[in-house]
Amino acid sequence: MKKSIVLFFIIIFIAGCSSLYYVNNKGLNDSVGGRLYVAKCSGCHSLYPPAYVLSSENKIRFEVMVKRAKLTGEEEKILKDFLLAAGAR
Ligand code: HEC
Repeated sequence: MKKSIVLFFIIIFIAGCSSLYYVNNKGLNDSVGGRLYVAKCSGCHSLYPPAYVLSSENKIRFEVMVKRAKLTGEEEKILKDFLLAAGAR
């Protein structure tokens, strides 16, 4: 019983960290784009690695997500710039 409670918290901890990992990396979380990514793209699912979001197999999906997140044209540009910068490692 006790063991399962500990395990539960460990899982929560890992899940919580993984979504922020990509954004904390390089300190980009403090940029406008980083904050936009967390605010707009983590509501329905955890954050995907920036390079993966803009990869060729996800190009169409990115446009769908931009609509789902109800981004303005300006926000889309900021987010794209952020993902490109964060993905190029
Ligand atoms: C309104 C809910 C919602 C919002 C907001 C949202 N997504 Fe999604 N996203 C989904 C759902 C549901 C899926 C599951 C697959 C599908 O429907 O295409 C998904 C799937 C994805 C995938 C594909 C993962 C895979 O491997 O199949 C990526 C990448 C993605 N989202 C990126 C983003 C980005 C970037 C944003 C911010 C601009 C965003 N999402 C905002 C609902 C959302």
